[in-house]
Amino acid sequence: DGEPAAATAPLAALGLPTTTASSRTPVAELTAFCKERCGCHGSWRMASFIDDAVKDIREQVGDSRVVLGLSGGVDSSVVAALVHRAIGDRLTCVFVNHGLLRKNEAEMVQEIFARNFSMNLCYVDASKRFLDKLAGVAEPERKRKIIGEEFIRVFEEEAKKLGEVDYLVQGTIYPDILESIPMDGNPAGVIKSHHNVGGLPEDLHFKLVEPLERLFKDEVRVVGRLLGLPSELIDRHPFPGPSLGVRHVGPICRDTLAMLREADAIVTDELIKADWYHKTWQTFAIFVPVKTVGIKNHQRSYDYVIAIRSINSVDAVTAQVVRLPWELLEKMSERIVHEVNGVNRVVYDITAKPPGTIEWE
Ligand code: XMP
Repeated sequence: DGEPAAATAPLAALGLPTTTASSRTPVAELTAFCKERCGCHGSWRMASFIDDAVKDIREQVGDSRVVLGLSGGVDSSVVAALVHRAIGDRLTCVFVNHGLLRKNEAEMVQEIFARNFSMNLCYVDASKRFLDKLAGVAEPERKRKIIGEEFIRVFEEEAKKLGEVDYLVQGTIYPDILESIPMDGNPAGVIKSHHNVGGLPEDLHFKLVEPLERLFKDEVRVVGRLLGLPSELIDRHPFPGPSLGVRHVGPICRDTLAMLREADAIVTDELIKADWYHKTWQTFAIFVPVKTVGIKNHQRSYDYVIAIRSINSVDAVTAQVVRLPWELLEKMSERIVHEVNGVNRVVYDITAKPPGTIEWE
C-alpha cells in the first residue's frame, strides 16, 4: 500500500497488471499472484511458526544446557517462553541487573516471572561492575559495546556455575539485524550496534540461538500471546537491551542516571494515568547533559535538561512523533522539574525516524 510507483514496479517486473489496469491494490495483486499462479494456500499461521521454532530449537541444541539473558522486555520474555516450551528445565534464564534498569524494574520482572512461569531464573546484581566500566565513556557505540561485552562476561560466569552450557539464547528480532548491517557495505555505515547483534564480543564462548530473528515486533507480540504470556509483559513498550544507558547522553554517572530513572518513572506514570500508554509505541525520558539557567524555589538554578520522546511505529524501522495532549506534557514537565533534583527544564523531541532514530544513542 506504499507509494504507487514503488509498489507497482515489482508487479510490472513480474508481468502482472498494476493498479492502473486493475481495481485491486498492489497487495491484493501479490496475494492473488501467490495463490493463483504459485499455488500457495495461505495456510501459514503464527502457530505454525511456534511449532517450527520449537522443532528447530530442539534440533539445534540437542541435549545441551542453554542460558538466556532475560531483561523482562517483550523480546526476551517471548523468546524465554518459546525456548522453555522447547527444552523445559534445560533452560536457565539469567536476569542481570546492570544498574541501567528502570525504577523498580528488577523487583517487578522477578515477581512477574515467579507468578507466571516455573522457569529456572537466576538474578545477578552486577550494577557496580557495569557502571564502573562505563565511567567517563560518552561515545554511544563504545557504551553499547561495553554493555554488550560485560553482559556476555556475566553470562559466562553464571553459566560456569551451572556446569556445561553451550548455548546462549537471544531475543534478536529482524529490525536489530537490519540496522546492524553496514550501509553500502561500509562498516562505518552501521546505524547502531544493537546489543543483541553487533555488541557481542568476538571471542564469544557460546553458540547463539535466535529463534525470533526473522520476526518484526508485532509478530513477536502475536507469538507471545499464543504462548500465553500476560499482557503486562507483552504489551509493554519496547525497551532496548542497553536500557537507560542509551537514553543518558554523555558519560553516565550515578547521580545523573538517578535523575533519568526518576524522570522516566514520572513520564510512564502520567502516561498510564492519562490512558495514553497503549496508544503509543514508546514514550520515555532522555537525559540531556546540558545545563541551563532557571528558577527553582525562588532561586536561580543551573540544572540539567530532560527530553521526552513519544513515537508510534509498526515495526520500529520508521516512526512518527505522537502529538501527546499538551496538558499531559505539561503535567509530566511540572512533576519532573519539581520532583527530580538537578533538573530544571523539559523539552519535547519532535523528530520522526528517519532522520532521528527512536533511541538517542
Ligand atoms: P532505534 O533507536 O534504532 O530503535 O530507532 C529501534 C527499536 O529498537 C529498540 N532498540 C534496541 N532493542 N537492543 C534492543 O533489544 C538494542 O540495543 C536496541 N537499541 C534500540 C528501540 O527501543 C526501538 O524500539
